[in-house]
Amino acid sequence: MSKDQLAVVVLAAGKGTRMKSARSKVLHSVAGRSLLGHVLDTAATINPDRLVVVIGPDMEEVAAEAAPHEAVVQAEQRGTADAVKAARQPLADVLSGTVFIVYGDTPFIEAETLNAMAAQRAAGAGVVVLGFRPDDPAAYGRLITDNSSRLERIVEFREANEVERAVTLCNSGVMAVDASILFRLVDAVDDDNAKNEFYLTDIVALARADNIDCVVVEAEADELQGINSRIDLAAAEAFWQQRRRLQVMEEGVTLSDPATVYFSYDTKFAEDVLIGPNVVFGPGVSVGRDAEIRAFCHLEGVIVGDSVTVGPFARLRPGVVLERGVKIGNFVEVKNAVLGAGAKASHLSYIGDAEVGANANIGAGTITCNYDGYFKYKTTIGSGAFIGSNTALVAPVVVGDGAIVGAGSVITDDVKRDALAVGRGRQDDREGWAAEFRTTQQTKKDQVAKGDD
Ligand code: UD1
Ligand code: CA
Repeated sequence: MSKDQLAVVVLAAGKGTRMKSARSKVLHSVAGRSLLGHVLDTAATINPDRLVVVIGPDMEEVAAEAAPHEAVVQAEQRGTADAVKAARQPLADVLSGTVFIVYGDTPFIEAETLNAMAAQRAAGAGVVVLGFRPDDPAAYGRLITDNSSRLERIVEFREANEVERAVTLCNSGVMAVDASILFRLVDAVDDDNAKNEFYLTDIVALARADNIDCVVVEAEADELQGINSRIDLAAAEAFWQQRRRLQVMEEGVTLSDPATVYFSYDTKFAEDVLIGPNVVFGPGVSVGRDAEIRAFCHLEGVIVGDSVTVGPFARLRPGVVLERGVKIGNFVEVKNAVLGAGAKASHLSYIGDAEVGANANIGAGTITCNYDGYFKYKTTIGSGAFIGSNTALVAPVVVGDGAIVGAGSVITDDVKRDALAVGRGRQDDREGWAAEFRTTQQTKKDQVAKGDD
């Protein structure tokens, strides 16, 4: 293949021991998406011809998260250069162009930054390294530049002397390397260092020895925060949420108390949405124009149509579609159900595995009994139907268009369109019974009291 190609290698073989977790580090989530997923999403936006994830042995779950992209196993963790070698086979036909190397535990790298690095490659640099200036340079590798700010070498903290440690420009680990020289450079790296590892960072000095140009592109420290512990994970979540809150307000969403609203990586909004305090968006939610989500709602896997109102205190679970103007009130739970335009469930209901027609009214306390302990069954409620309060709809069951169900009914049979169905014990009135009862009981009680004397 002669055409210049673009490949991305994601290093994710590290065990991430500081997470203290049975799960691989890159499978931990920020904003409802794995760390690896964030990196893959960003990588995908630069349209690489090849995307390879380097994993450790016994990391099938990471391979599954990487799919449909290829995962290759680095048998033993001998360092970042050794990890890149593991991608040799899948990149065998990438003979010219650029190979990006990114880390699976650095989820906020932005496509713009990758593009800025690609521009430096196009301008002739053989190795482009992404640098940053963290508040605390800690143990990051240091980028050593010459007077004309070309990159000379990268020195790892352990091997750095005092002068080098004073350098504030740090190595993020992200690189863009000329595909035609990458493996030659990587093969030349040795493990003659404090950790006896093959440092990818050594390819800079090797390239410079070959008169290959190496440059630094700088990015914001926030974008390059790596996650090593649960504390880092929480900080990353907080960072992501805060950034997203600002974005959604820029996009035309009103947040009455931004700090208490939580989004997922894929939450989508039309303009003029109102969101009250303490609302949580799990994955897979989109909210239409002029919709209002009131305080204390939890939504996941839901399409909220235009002009819908939800809450306060509503729970919307996966598979829910609320068409235009639907109203979901307080303490209503909806799961796997489509509610047609203008339908209302204003109070205290469970609607699961259901289809509710346009303008139907679901009374307070209505429950779809959708589960027999083994299987789930569907409830269909016709358009314009009226379900009286405290009704149990025992699925599978169909309530026809325009039908009325009396309050307190247990509906086990289908209800015809425009019919009335009442399924409950009849009321039995006995005139004077209560007064008589009180007299009898009071007399009995008085006699007992006398006997006690
Ligand atoms: C690396 C850089 C350092 C940089 C820092 C930024 C080297 C030698 N050092 O150091 O200059 O400042 O990242 O965070 O590259 N990995 C593998 N296989 C291995 C080793 C690592 O896949 O054998 C993966 C890890 O899963 C991780 C990434 O490579 O995603 C970085 O490895 P890590 O050991 O954390 O490198 P650092 O010592 O932090
Ligand atoms: Ca690290």
